[in-house]
Parts: sequence; C-alpha cells; structure tokens
Amino acid sequence: MKVYVDKDTCIGCGVCEGLCPEVFKMNDEGKAEVIVPETEASCAQDAADSCPVQAIKVE
Ligand code: F3S
Repeated sequence: MKVYVDKDTCIGCGVCEGLCPEVFKMNDEGKAEVIVPETEASCAQDAADSCPVQAIKVE
C-alpha cells in the first residue's frame, strides 16, 4: 500500500511515529514524514486510523 501525509493538515502530534516508526518520522519542522512510501506494514493503517486530524492517507 501507499502512504501519504498531508503536511498542511498534520499538527505534529507524533502518534504516527510512535505507532509505526518504520514508516513515519518527524521532520525538522515537527511534521510527520513518510520514510517508506510503499509498505506492507499494517501499523501504517493503524497510524492513519489514529491520527487525530486524519492527515494520513493509505491506499
Ligand atoms: Fe501528524 Fe497525524 Fe502523525 S497529526 S504527526 S500525521 S499522527
């Protein structure tokens, strides 16, 4: 699956990195960055479900 973060929507809460550090990493601006855009890691979906502002898209 492909993973995207909408940086304009992300509020930098860090939940995605906490749940799925192999896919998400906080950048210098305090926003989440996808470090592995194509992954089978199920935690990416968990992160998308847990993001408080729905900034993560998984397809
Ligand atoms: Fe941002 Fe949502 Fe992750 S607010 S830091 S994309 S959990």
